[in-house]
Amino acid sequence: MELKHFDTLFQSLKTVSDDLVQSLSIQNLSKLVEEVQQSKVWKPLQIGNHIAKTPIVQGGMGVGISLSSLASAVANNGGIGVIAANGIGLLEKDYYKDGLNAGLNAFRKEIRKARELTKGIIGVNIMVALKDFHEMLDVAIQEKVDIVFMGAGLPIKNIPVKRLRENNISIAPIVSSSRAANLIFKMWTNLYNDVPDAVVFEGPKAGGHLGFTEEQLDKEEFQLEYILPSIVEVLKPYEKKNNKSIPVIAGGGVFTGSDIKRILDLGASGVQMATRFVATDECDANIKFKEAYVNCKKEDIGLIKSPVGMPGRAIRNQFIIDSENGKRPDFKCAWKCLATCKAQDANYCISIALNNARLGHLNSGYVFCGETTYRIKEIVSVASLIEELKVGYLLEANKTINGKFENLVTKSNELWGKYKDLVNVSREKEEDYECALRKLPQASHKALRDQYQVALSSVIKTQLQLVETVSNTWNLLKNVTKVQPLMQKEFIK
Ligand SMILES: Cc1cc2nc3c(=O)[nH]c(=O)nc-3n(C[C@H](O)[C@H](O)[C@H](O)COP(=O)(O)O)c2cc1C
Repeated sequence: MELKHFDTLFQSLKTVSDDLVQSLSIQNLSKLVEEVQQSKVWKPLQIGNHIAKTPIVQGGMGVGISLSSLASAVANNGGIGVIAANGIGLLEKDYYKDGLNAGLNAFRKEIRKARELTKGIIGVNIMVALKDFHEMLDVAIQEKVDIVFMGAGLPIKNIPVKRLRENNISIAPIVSSSRAANLIFKMWTNLYNDVPDAVVFEGPKAGGHLGFTEEQLDKEEFQLEYILPSIVEVLKPYEKKNNKSIPVIAGGGVFTGSDIKRILDLGASGVQMATRFVATDECDANIKFKEAYVNCKKEDIGLIKSPVGMPGRAIRNQFIIDSENGKRPDFKCAWKCLATCKAQDANYCISIALNNARLGHLNSGYVFCGETTYRIKEIVSVASLIEELKVGYLLEANKTINGKFENLVTKSNELWGKYKDLVNVSREKEEDYECALRKLPQASHKALRDQYQVALSSVIKTQLQLVETVSNTWNLLKNVTKVQPLMQKEFIK
């Protein structure tokens, strides 16, 4: 074989290598992987100056269900933990002697405990309907919580906006309609020349007291998915006028990571979840309360007519049936804690009933719950719940980008095939060379061998480049496919 034949041979080898390097272009692949990753990661939730990397607000659960333990665990896992103020005084021994101060002391203690347990975001939920709403708000300000959520009534009059602002406390009203949101924002603009930092929209599948009439609960036009976009819309002019974004956080029936994806796609910036947080190790309720969630069947969940004049969702039990039949356990109203409570006509005190349930005395009270409670199968840690939600979110996000991902896998497979071809080609050339070399006169060996070595080293360089590219691609894919074992299998194949 003559030298010029080797020239042609090496030239074609070089063309193959160039082709390969070009088609393997790592930039193309990493761009695609980055795109895929970006669209799958949930965005942090910003309320005022507070940024939660997990866009989940743990809904406040009154009468001792969400206190410092649950709230700090959620905050430690990147979400917003919330301590509920209502009924918290029942934690104190002197509740019946001095209901007001018992509540304020217990509230202060729980906020302080939570602060010791986390550096994350701690909010409080103060119902506007509470008799001590303003005093509770005062404690929240003194203790410099991060966010105050205010529901069960419209937080419009006498809100100490200036003091809240001075203490870097964000404000988020909880509403059940776009009308209520609009009214709050309009009135705040007039009264305070300011607007709240976020809005929580609670749909009809939520737990506890509901902001809907019984007739509205099942109607399509009152469902979360239906109302949410209109709330996002109502806030737009206020966002523009105040030059700030006002996130909507939607809740009520959000159970899985895929639900979160759906709700965020509808325009929410975060979700509020409560039911799922009850069945966690860290929830502040007694284990019997949590077990009632795990053991509950769909048909056990029903509505109650609460003594405070709103419907509520609960696990129905003998206590509820007895009270509907007129049975009236002996109770003493400590201090008419809720402005709207018709204590004199009530068959029982709802705070006491809920407190009994919190303590695990389920025969002398009942368990508030959300519509999805029957789907809960076990008690888990807050960390594993949030991880499950995140993975569920990623898998859902994956579905929408499957096409892109499949392209990526196809491309990687193609490149791998070409790489293997190149190895074969170079092996063939090596044999050709050895064969030709043996036939040539000894004198021309050196020049030819040098030329061969140069060409071979370029092939080896190309091979190394390919190995590096393929392994980089593999690492990128491994990141993306952590939650996608099927995709990984496809790639390995
Ligand atoms: C046991 C329980 C107690 C609750 N207590 C309160 C409360 O005191 N104040 C309030 O604003 N919302 C309360 N809620 C509503 C939650 O904060 C939350 O918005 C709602 O339950 C979200 O729906 P989900 O439970 O389906 O996740 C309660 C919910 C549950 C399950």
